Amino acid sequence: MNAPLLVTGGTGNIGSRVVPRLREAGRDVRILSRHARPDAPGIHHVVGNTVSGDGLAAALDGVDVVLHLAGGAKGDDIAAEKLGAAAREAGVRHLVLISVVGADRMPIGYFRSKAAAEEAIAGSGVPWTVLRAAQLHDFVFPVVRSLARMPILPIPGGLRFEPVDGDEVAARLSELALGAPAGRVPDFAGPEVLDVTQLVAVFRAASGAPQRRGHLPIRLPGGIGRAYRAGENLAGTDADRGHRTWARFLDQSQAAPV
Ligand SMILES: NC(=O)c1ccc[n+]([C@@H]2O[C@H](COP(=O)([O-])OP(=O)(O)OC[C@H]3O[C@@H](n4cnc5c(N)ncnc54)[C@H](OP(=O)(O)O)[C@@H]3O)[C@@H](O)[C@H]2O)c1
Repeated sequence: MNAPLLVTGGTGNIGSRVVPRLREAGRDVRILSRHARPDAPGIHHVVGNTVSGDGLAAALDGVDVVLHLAGGAKGDDIAAEKLGAAAREAGVRHLVLISVVGADRMPIGYFRSKAAAEEAIAGSGVPWTVLRAAQLHDFVFPVVRSLARMPILPIPGGLRFEPVDGDEVAARLSELALGAPAGRVPDFAGPEVLDVTQLVAVFRAASGAPQRRGHLPIRLPGGIGRAYRAGENLAGTDADRGHRTWARFLDQSQAAPV
C-alpha cells in the first residue's frame, strides 16, 4: 500500500495508456472522472469535476502526486486553477500537467486556455512539471481520413503537423509523474513534420487507395493562418521526439479503406 497517485483524465485516450504504466511501476492509482466506474486491483475511481471543482478535495486526500490529464474544448484554465489550489491545500508534493505544443503562440481558444492552465499550475505553490505534447496520431487520423476521401484535396498552405504516438506520450508522462518536479520540460512531438499533402498521401498508400492529383490550394485567413504558416504549432529543434512514424501508426492500426 502506497500513497495513491491521482490521475485526472485517467479514463481518456492518453490517461488509459498511462495508468497501466504507473501500476507496473508499483503505484496505486486513483482516477478522477465525471462518471462512476468499477475499480480494479490497485486502481480506485472517484467521481469529480475539475471545472466545477466538485469532488476535488476528497479525490486529493492522501495523494502525493497528481497527473492532470483531464481536458476538453473549454475550461482547462479554470480546471487547472481549481486543481492547483486544491492540491496545495491537500499538501501534494508534485503536480504534472499535460499541455499542447505552441500553447503560448497559437491564437486559438484551446491553446490560450492551455497556456493559462500552465500559468495556474506554475503559480499554484505546488512543485510542478509541464509537458507540452504535439497532436496524437489518433487525433490527426479522422481529419486526414476525411480529407483523403475527397476527390479534390483542399490544401491549406503552410499547415503542418508532427503527429506523435499516444503510447510514447503516455510513457513520457509516466516517467515524469514518477520523477521529481522538473518545471517546463522539452516539448514532445512525433519524429517527422508533415504537411497535409504528405499526411494524405501516406494515408492513401497505407489504405491501398489510389493517389489523386486534384489539389485545391486554400489560404487560411487572419492571425490563425499566419501562425500556422509560421509553424507556431510546431515543437522546434529542442524537442524530444517519439519514434513511431505516421506510416507505421497507419500500418499497425489497419487504416480503414478510403
Ligand atoms: N489528444 C491529443 O492529440 C493531445 C495533444 C496534446 C495535449 N492533449 C491534452 O491531453 C489531455 C488528454 O487528452 P486525451 O486525448 O486523452 O483526451 P480525451 O480522450 O478526450 O479524454 C479526456 C479526459 O478528460 C476527462 N475530463 C474531461 N472533462 C473533465 C472534467 N470537467 N472533470 C473531470 N474529468 C474530465 C475525461 O473523463 P470522463 O469523461 O471519464 O469524465 C477523460 O478522461 C487533454 O488535456 C488534452 O488537451 C491532447
